Amino acid sequence: MKQNFPIKSELKAKRLKWGAPQNFISWAYMKELRENDKTRKIYDINPYIEVYQFRDNLFGLFTQNCDGAGDVWMFLIVGPEKAMLIDTCFGLGDLKGLCNMLSGGKELVVVNTHGHVDHAYGNCRFEKVYCHEYEVPILQEQNDTMFDYLFDANGNNIWLEFDKADLPTYRPYEIVPVKDGYTFDLGKGYEVELCWLGGHAPGNSGFLDKTNRIFFPGDDLCSDVSGVASGPRPGMPNGQYMNLETFRGNLAKVVARIDEIDYVFPSHFIINVESGVLESELEACDEILADPQSFDYRAMSISPKGGEPSERFFKYIKGFSVLAYKMEGVYAPKE
Ligand SMILES: [Fe+2]
Repeated sequence: MKQNFPIKSELKAKRLKWGAPQNFISWAYMKELRENDKTRKIYDINPYIEVYQFRDNLFGLFTQNCDGAGDVWMFLIVGPEKAMLIDTCFGLGDLKGLCNMLSGGKELVVVNTHGHVDHAYGNCRFEKVYCHEYEVPILQEQNDTMFDYLFDANGNNIWLEFDKADLPTYRPYEIVPVKDGYTFDLGKGYEVELCWLGGHAPGNSGFLDKTNRIFFPGDDLCSDVSGVASGPRPGMPNGQYMNLETFRGNLAKVVARIDEIDYVFPSHFIINVESGVLESELEACDEILADPQSFDYRAMSISPKGGEPSERFFKYIKGFSVLAYKMEGVYAPKE
């Protein structure tokens, strides 16, 4: 398929190569936002991040994916006494300094939606990171060779041209496991609640900012592809939670609280989506669980890290995008 036209950008890093071509609607949205949004700023302290102001106290930190997969959002909520950074991406450039500048130096609480490379490799820039307990083993696998796959045998960038010196140096940091429903207090009763979802990753969790009435679902909802059922991944710690049935049960609990949520901010591409999209995603899950053969189309997919292509099935999330699943990832494994 023809490659997407580049988006004009002042970011320091430049795209060399993409993995799979990206969804046209997401690309058009990102092109419009990134080229014309009036709040967009790039600060000298971190030339790898476009900063957008989406609410009085909510910043979207857009950064390019260092491998060939889709570009990524981090979010910074500035509460009355503390700020919260949701995800750390690859940690390119001075991420901590940027957050401190935007928050006015408030204490920073760092959380992960899940432990995948594009959301958590920047954790080592911080002292302490919170995540759902099922993601802990994934974060514990991080090490000082984790960035090697971004470079070829000659040490050159493969997917994204950036200065290697701007990557963080891996060092151990404190990982704090928390359970479903754990609530962070950013001061003066400003609460953000972790809502465990599973699906995309064993501990993929959403964060509910109760004041802004915004839900951040990580990668369990995406305007490109919502890949929520690629499990069960035998051998991977907690891999049994990467299935549609588990995700559906958890999503239903969030949908039951839909009167607390106005907007949804996924970790890739289109954000500020009205919360009814969660009901639409739940409906897609229910149709697949009722009949896994009710997919709209099927396609082969390849991971940016290589390996054998695998077949995935796609079901429309009405009014939004598609949900991807594997047949073996539909139902929760039997105990
Ligand atoms: Fe991701």
